[in-house]
Parts: sequence; C-alpha cells; structure tokens
Amino acid sequence: MTRSQVRDLIVEEFNVNHIFATSVATRIDRRIRKYEEIKSFFVDFCKNKPKPFVKWVGGKRQLLEQFKALGLYPPRNFDAENATYFEPFVGGGAVFFDLLPKNAVLSDWNEELVTTYNVIKDDVDNLIESLKNHKNEKEYFLSMRAKDLNELSDVEIASRFIYLNRTCFNGMYRVNKSGGFNVPFGKQKKPLICDEDNLRKVSAILENVSISKRDYKDVLNEAKKGDFVYFDPPYYPLNRTSNFTSYTADGFLEKEQEELRDTYFKLHKRGCFVMLSNSNTEFIRNIYSGLDKKIKINEVSASRMINSVASKRGKIKEVLVVNY
Ligand SMILES: C[S@@+](CC[C@H](N)C(=O)[O-])C[C@H]1O[C@@H](n2cnc3c(N)ncnc32)[C@H](O)[C@@H]1O
Repeated sequence: MTRSQVRDLIVEEFNVNHIFATSVATRIDRRIRKYEEIKSFFVDFCKNKPKPFVKWVGGKRQLLEQFKALGLYPPRNFDAENATYFEPFVGGGAVFFDLLPKNAVLSDWNEELVTTYNVIKDDVDNLIESLKNHKNEKEYFLSMRAKDLNELSDVEIASRFIYLNRTCFNGMYRVNKSGGFNVPFGKQKKPLICDEDNLRKVSAILENVSISKRDYKDVLNEAKKGDFVYFDPPYYPLNRTSNFTSYTADGFLEKEQEELRDTYFKLHKRGCFVMLSNSNTEFIRNIYSGLDKKIKINEVSASRMINSVASKRGKIKEVLVVNY
C-alpha cells in the first residue's frame, strides 16, 4: 500500500477529513501496511491528539462541526501532502488543532501568544516546571498580572501567559490601550494550570510547524497556488458601539476589514483555497459581495461567549466566506 492508499483507507474507515488523515499516514512507519496495524496506529494517534492550550475569545471549536456538516470545510481539493495550511490570526488555534496539517505556518500579532507557542515547541520541560509553581490566589494573580514583561525570560512569559489564561475571569484575554492584560481574578476552585499531558502533545505536534509574530498580510509573501488559508480576524462589531476588539491594543474596524478583504481577494486570484470567519453584519456581507461568483458567504450560528452574563449569551449568526 502506498501512503496515499493508507490515507484513503483512514478517510473511509474512520470518517475523518483528508488533511488529518494525511497527517496520520505521514507518521506511520513505511513497514506498517496491514489493516489491523494501521487501525491501532490511528487509534493511538487520536488518543495523543493535542487540543488548544489556551482559551481564546472567538475560539472556533464549537463551530467546526457545522462547517463540516455544511460541506464548507475543509476544502476537498487541497493537497495536504504537498501544499501548506496558513492560519495568520491563529489565537488558540482551534482549526489548526482540528486538522493537524502536515505542512502548517501559523502566525499572530500577539507577541506573548507567539512566544508561548514557541516555548511549548522548544522548551516544554522548563515551562512545565515553571507552571507547577503558580498559586491560584488573588494576591498572587495580581502580582503576576502586574509583572513587567521586559524583565521576564521567554519561559517566564509563556508560564505567566498560560497561568493568567487559566485563572482569570472566564479565561478571557483582553488588554487595555497600552497593551497590559486587564482581566480580573477568576476565583475558580481548581483551575488546571499545568496540563502537562496536553502541553507535551502540543510540543510534539509543533515540531515541524513555523509560528511567528507578524501581520496577517505577510501571508501574501508566502502562500502559493493550492495552499489553504484560514482567516479568523477580530470580528467587525455587531453593534458598532459595543465593540470588542481588544485582542491587541489596536482595533479592527472598517479600514482594517477592507484591507483584509483585499488580501482575501488577492489570494483567491492566486488560486489559494481561502476561508474566512466574521460577524454576520451588513458591512461584512457588503464588502464580500459581488467579488467573484466563486466567493460565497455562508451563515453559521454560534453561541458567543463574549458576554459575561450567562443569560445574555445567545445564538448569533456568523459568516463563513469560502472560495471553493
Ligand atoms: C478571533 S481571534 C482568533 C481566534 C482563533 N482562531 C481561535 O480559534 O482561538 C483573532 C486573532 O487575531 C490576532 N490579530 C489581530 N490583529 C492582527 C493582525 N493585524 N495580524 C495578525 N493577527 C492579528 C489577535 O491577536 C487574535 O489572536
């Protein structure tokens, strides 16, 4: 059996997408070609599948099943063996962790987040040691939150980042105008601050993945025909006044959304598979309408977690713009 036959067998037998199946098939030793052996490798691989290591506002995990059911994801003709997956607003990386593509390039403008990915990738033992020393206490939380990042090592930056994400209110990440993390203490009884098992799985999977801090537009310098790009930008606000765009200290409003649309269109013309999430607003629908008949705006419903009052977290619609 060739590698692509192994991939096809995995797709058929286990009903998983071809990108994930390619990733599994790539890792199976060439000598393993019997059905039972492939099956047991697959089951083991799934047991060791990592999950996102931070909670991130706008995380896409809950929506992926819908994307799949609607046949919008992942693009069928993407060649996962030879082409590359790009996620230039990676955040918590829900789509990356779902697909685990063989070739992936991740990036984000948030420097602490990117440092954390790279520390997990290159220095996971020291990170785990450091995470074990944190305390789930308000005074301690406030002292960690107040730390000057310029005085910390990369391991300390990553450790603080994960600690704050795990112990803060609602696991949110929010910064003030000058870029300082400003979410209050979460008063949770037993937050899992050091998920050693998952961090080791993430570290292993990141081995051949590139992660850098850069603007999403840099994807234009690298993506080639046949590559798959997923954009999950800060959303255009549903209500222009109740605007939640504080992932970084900068907002992401009309001008930024239009620039992103231009980037989307350039990639489309280049022959990339492009998928983009955004809010279901008139403004977003307008800027993606009429570009090309292949570019379609699909509605999906999400239960947003942004509102801190549980009763106000309703189902709202989002859009998924795809060109394939
Ligand atoms: C909606 S979140 C992504 C959520 C993510 N897909 C997930 O599943 O958790 C948007 C991300 O865009 C990043 N970002 C904002 N402006 C950016 C820019 N100009 N270039 C790259 N990333 C940017 C933010 O730091 C944030 O991580």
